[in-house]
Amino acid sequence: MRAIGIAHFGETPALREVPVPEPGGGEVRVAIEAASINPLDLAIASGALAALGGYRFPLTLGMDGALPTAGMTALGAIDVMGVPEGGTLVVLGATGGVGTFTIQAAAARGIRVIATASARLAEEVRRLGATEIVVRGAEPLDEALRRLAPEGVDAILDAVGDRSLTSSVAGAVRDGGALLSIGSGLEERLLADERIRAADYRLDRKPERLAELTALVTAGTIRPVIGARLPPGGGTARPHRRYQGHRNARQDRPPGALTSGRCR
Ligand SMILES: NC(=O)c1ccc[n+]([C@@H]2O[C@H](COP(=O)([O-])OP(=O)(O)OC[C@H]3O[C@@H](n4cnc5c(N)ncnc54)[C@H](OP(=O)(O)O)[C@@H]3O)[C@@H](O)[C@H]2O)c1
Repeated sequence: MRAIGIAHFGETPALREVPVPEPGGGEVRVAIEAASINPLDLAIASGALAALGGYRFPLTLGMDGALPTAGMTALGAIDVMGVPEGGTLVVLGATGGVGTFTIQAAAARGIRVIATASARLAEEVRRLGATEIVVRGAEPLDEALRRLAPEGVDAILDAVGDRSLTSSVAGAVRDGGALLSIGSGLEERLLADERIRAADYRLDRKPERLAELTALVTAGTIRPVIGARLPPGGGTARPHRRYQGHRNARQDRPPGALTSGRCR
């Protein structure tokens, strides 16, 4: 069978022939028709997570089947933040895989969503359900949030992982509100702040979360946003370069908390 993988860390992922895997006890073999490229795949391929060990080469990449990782992370994060219907949620990195699911799922719960996006993608983000867009680079985000929600927001979800960004907007969270990062984007002082509920979030992979996600997608309440259709052979070079660009842009971030991009 064909699979996208690497022969060594640092190589651009490429399509190659690999043996068909034989399922062991309690496992099943799943046929994949289409898959997404998750930032975690690119982080693994770069070698940024080599210290975790357990890799065997040639290494087949594949954290995702286009939906579960980003979708379940969005649903889990929304639950942890606990924003009530009618409450206000800010999504940083709203055009990515997690961000686009978060906007849709939160809007479906009657939550007011303020999203950050480039000018080019602002309309797409609005179509997903964001009520207000703060265009990146047009206005300092903390000032925009003070203008849009002078009373403070109920929660901010950081899907970028930029510590200076989260530090600049933490003051916009109301007392007792949540500041959650999925990209290790919070400084220690914020994690220790008792005024707000600040935390790093890790996907819990609960089966019931996958069932909830499946039901939402089947009902048409939320949909995966396809940023680009890549050919099976050699199509990973572009996201790989993009990943490297984001990585270079955010030197202060820990390895692994890196992004490619989805909504474009
Ligand atoms: N904790 C967990 O369990 C968990 C689960 C899933 C993902 N993650 C992590 O969460 C992050 C987001 O995942 P994802 O799948 O949504 O990634 P993604 O599809 O690559 O999206 C990343 C988002 O961040 C934006 N962004 C990137 N660099 C930026 C910068 N310098 N300033 C402002 N915005 C920037 C991107 O916008 P542009 O494309 O316009 O730059 C995009 O909206 C990744 O770091 C991923 O590794 C963690």
